[in-house]
Order: sequence, then structure tokens, then C-alpha cells
Amino acid sequence: MSKFYLTTPIYYVNDIPHVGHAYTTIAADVLARYHRILGDQTFFLTGTDEHGAKVAEAAKARGLEPKEFCDEVAPNFRETWRKLNISHDYFIRTTDPGHEKIVSDFLLKIYENGDIYKGTYEGLYCVGCEKFLTEVDLVDGLCPYHKKKPVKQGEENYFFRLSQYVQKLIKAISDPKDPNHYQIGPESRYNEVLSKLKLGVGDISISRAEVTWGIPIPWDPTQTIYVWVDALINYYSATLITQRPNLWPAELHLMAKDILWFHAVIWPAMLIAAGLKPPKEVFAHGFFTVEGEKMSKTIGNVILPEALVDKFGADGTRYLLLSEFPFGSDGDLSLKRLEERYNSDLANGLGNLVQRLAALAQKAGVSVEPPAEKPLLDLSYRTSLDKKDFQGALNYIWKKISSTDKKIENTKPWELIKRDPQKAETVLDNLVRQIREINELLLPFMPETAAKIHEQFKGPRIGRGEALFPRINQESLTNE
Ligand code: MSP
Repeated sequence: MSKFYLTTPIYYVNDIPHVGHAYTTIAADVLARYHRILGDQTFFLTGTDEHGAKVAEAAKARGLEPKEFCDEVAPNFRETWRKLNISHDYFIRTTDPGHEKIVSDFLLKIYENGDIYKGTYEGLYCVGCEKFLTEVDLVDGLCPYHKKKPVKQGEENYFFRLSQYVQKLIKAISDPKDPNHYQIGPESRYNEVLSKLKLGVGDISISRAEVTWGIPIPWDPTQTIYVWVDALINYYSATLITQRPNLWPAELHLMAKDILWFHAVIWPAMLIAAGLKPPKEVFAHGFFTVEGEKMSKTIGNVILPEALVDKFGADGTRYLLLSEFPFGSDGDLSLKRLEERYNSDLANGLGNLVQRLAALAQKAGVSVEPPAEKPLLDLSYRTSLDKKDFQGALNYIWKKISSTDKKIENTKPWELIKRDPQKAETVLDNLVRQIREINELLLPFMPETAAKIHEQFKGPRIGRGEALFPRINQESLTNE
């Protein structure tokens, strides 16, 4: 039995959970459920990032103490994940005392190993990103993600000797035989990281004198640990907090490309410096816009997962988000397109097939033996999911759905029922088995629907069932 420990980023609590966060978390959930089906010892971690200047500012704006603020808003994420049927095994918060202690020990270890020193640095800091940007990163003098001018900041800080790890990291990512080997995906991102590493990388500041909302530096409590250092360690601290020391290293860290550098370079270097193994794989998916624009509160185009769940159900939302564009690429979301695909793929496609087949099977009074054992998942489907090609896996399922539809059209069981009941039974028996196969493949993507279909078709008698995906009618469609 193999182990599969996977993580999402821990999201900043100052934001409300939006469809961007949901996208990564749903993808991770599909993989977690898939690995559980494969029989892997699966552990799925998500959580919230609660320290740093950005969260402190948000708390202040609300007139609350930072911890009070975090306690109030962190449950929003749990609640959203519950509505989307996210099956995480643990939800970590960086303000958990267990985490704080482990971060402190982790840093002390690197310090004792000689990879931390005191220095000064002046640079352009973007509070939105919680990181220093260089001139090259700026677009028209602004942070490309937050469209704000970064502020000049400089003070005496502790530094991590990242520069000392560049050669080690280059070897680790490019040589599969290296004891610290880890993969970076997709390939285009791997190439980006590799070429940036080859250009050389400077040391990084890992403490803040001016930020008080953070974990104190263990050997110098006048400074706090830089929020990103604190946050990255969550992936490791969760293994100790949950008393699973054998869980490390993680098999997979998922995130979008905005924070790949932290995961693919800074984090592995920190781990090696602390005498630990890097994760096995770091995979960055694309960034998406909404109706062609970056999602932002100012534009007012932020899509909330709750709104999607109200409209499409949890499974509809999961399906629509993962099938809209390839996982590694950038994409665009449009509510109108999601509605159209809900009607075509879910209401007319899957929903209609299930209802039609159940009605025919009932009419013919067929009785189908319950499945003897769980079938193996098809190779092509597994290959897609192993590559994190969700769209590929879904296309494969939808091909099976339309071929089952065609089979119904061709064999016309409604005519057979009158003409040749025996034949009708054989044909329907076959179709029911096909639906069951499809359902096995649907499970990681649509857990609720899969449970309903299973209930309906588990046999021997076929149940009536409700409409799985009621059509969105003309009046409720979004106007252009
Ligand atoms: N707190 C840090 C992560 C620390 S992990 C040790 C952080 N948080 S965040 O709340 O800003 O989340 C960023 C992540 O949210 C992205 O990497 C991605 O997973 C997800 N997304 C947010 N907006 C998104 C899009 N518009 N498109 C795709 N993913 C999006 O960074």
C-alpha cells in the first residue's frame, strides 16, 4: 500500500473563500478521493494562513485583535469546504499553538546549522503578496497581481542562505536519482523554475522587526518569523500535530502559479537545511480570470463558491470548474458558459441518461445482480488523473456517457419491452452494468451524485431516483 499525502495552499484568512480557492481545493479533493479508491493511505491537508501584516491590517480595519479576527473568519473556509463536499483529513491554522511550536523548532534547527544570519535589506514590499518584489516583477511600477505600488521597506533582519542551496536544488529537480529529487509540474513551470535558478538566487529575509503579528524568532523575540516561512512549515507541522511522523515527505503540493516559487524553491531549500526531505512533487495550475477580468472586489466580479453551489449543486460546481479549461493552463470563467454546460453536460447528458435508463429498467421489471466486486478503474482514466489532467478524465467519462446514450438509441429497449421482453432484459441488464462502470469513474468528481446513482442501480431492482440535475430554465439564465 502506498502513501499519498497531498496539500492545498493554506489560504489567507483576510479574504473570503472565493472560486479561486475553491478551484485548487476541489482539484485536490478529486485526487484525494481517487487515491482512496486506489487503496492508497491518503492524507489530505488544507487550512488557513493567519499571521503577517496583511491579516493584521484586516483585523485592525475591523477593530479586532488579530487572533479574535482570525477565530471569527477561519470557520468561513471550513464552511465553504463542507458545502463543496471537500474531504480533507485535517484543517490546519497557523495560529494553532502546536504549529507555532514546531515552526519555532524548525527555524532553530536551521539557525543552529548555520544557515541563518543577520543582515539588512532594502526592497520593494507588496503587502498583498507578502513578499519583496524586484523591478523586473513590476508592471508599470505596480505589483501585477495586486495592481498596487509596493512600498520601500528595509530593516535589520535575519536571512536564510538560500543562495547556498541553488546548486543542490538544480540537481534535485533535474536528476531523478538525486536523494532529494522532487518533481515540478507542469513541464513549462519546471523549465521556468530551472532557468530562474540557473540565473542565481540571493538570500532571503525571513524575519520582520516591524510586524508583531507573527511567531517570535526563538533566539531573538524582538523579531517575528516572516509569514511565508511560518506558512510553508504547515505542511510539515501537520504531520506532527496529527501524530503521523511517517507522513512526511508529502507526495504532492498543489497551488497556482502565483506561489510556485515559494513551494518549488524556498520550501525545499528550507527542508534540506533543516535535515528533512523535500516533497515529492510540486504542481502549479494556471490562474483564471472571470469574464476576461482579474477577479477583484473593486470590479465586483468575485464569484463565491456558495453562489455556484446554489445554482449547480456541489457536484455541478465541481464538475463545471474542473472541465472548463485544462488544469495547468490559464483560463477564464463565465457564468453564462457554466450554465450552458450545466444544461448540456449535466441536465441533458448525465442526468437524462440516468433517468431514462432507470425508467426503462423499471418498466421492463429487470432485476440486475449486485456487482460482485469493485471493478478496476480504466487505464486511460487513471493515466489522466495521474497527470492531473482532470479534463482528460472527464472527457473519457463523457464519451462513455454518450456511447451509452447511443446504445439506447440503437437498441430501442422501449420497443423490445413489448416485442421481445427476454431480449429487453438482456439489453437493459447490459446498460445498467455500463452505468455502474461510469459511476465508479464519477465518484472522485461527484461524490454526492455517485452515491445517489449507486443507490439507484445497485440492484437487483432498479430504483426510481430523483432528477439529478434539474435543468436551469430560460428565465433563470444569466443575461449577457
Ligand atoms: N497564504 C498563501 C499560501 C500559503 S501556502 C503555504 C496564499 N494564500 S491565497 O489565499 O492568496 O491563496 C492563493 C492560492 O489560491 C493560489 O495559489 C490558488 O491556489 C488559489 N487561487 C486564488 N485565486 C485564483 C485564481 N484566480 N485562479 C486560480 N487559482 C486561484 O497565497
